[in-house]
Amino acid sequence: MEIYLDTANVDEIREAVDWGVISGVTTNPTLIAKESGRDFHEIIKEICGLVQGPVSAEAVSLDVEGILREARELAALNPHIVIKIPVTENGLAAVKVLSSEGIRTNVTLVFSPLQALLAARAGATYVSPFIGRIDDTGQDGSDVLADIMDIFRNYQLETKVIAASIRHPRHVLEAARLGADIATVPFKVLKTMFRHPLTDHGIERFLADWEKVIKG
Ligand code: G3P
Repeated sequence: MEIYLDTANVDEIREAVDWGVISGVTTNPTLIAKESGRDFHEIIKEICGLVQGPVSAEAVSLDVEGILREARELAALNPHIVIKIPVTENGLAAVKVLSSEGIRTNVTLVFSPLQALLAARAGATYVSPFIGRIDDTGQDGSDVLADIMDIFRNYQLETKVIAASIRHPRHVLEAARLGADIATVPFKVLKTMFRHPLTDHGIERFLADWEKVIKG
């Protein structure tokens, strides 16, 4: 499973890229809004310069023509850009057109297996089920992800599944166990994935023993 970073913060992206573990970035309007005062296109271009992999940028128009206009503008900024589009009738109509133009798409705000199936049929490159937000409703996000993976395997659909709205390392583990292609994780969750108390304890002990070797 590949790991993407779910952020629009360039400092976080720079640090995580240096750790060698992330192969793409996803953003959304909320994450862009957190980078207050910065121009959307400038942020996206800077992110593309940092990560040599897919960078999802969201179109906010609700009509087909508006989505297509935004998507073409964004796609022209950098070849790494993937257009994030919510799963609506107009959104999927735009996905169909963009797919025929070779512009990659990430269908977002997916909360059910049937929405994911529709996105795949329209030609989406990626589909993003929101695991954490499904959990928030009292339903199990992992069950929805499992159904999507089963359906995509049944019909060998080429659309890649990005487990999104990841809130904690357990979500990442579940996504990997279920065979998601990608998990997009917030910086805070990525850092937690490195941590284990026995690793810290082990390093302390090795260093203490090494001191004895040096001192003889
Ligand atoms: O990629 C979508 C994700 O950012 C949504 O996360 O935590 O706002 O549900 P959250």
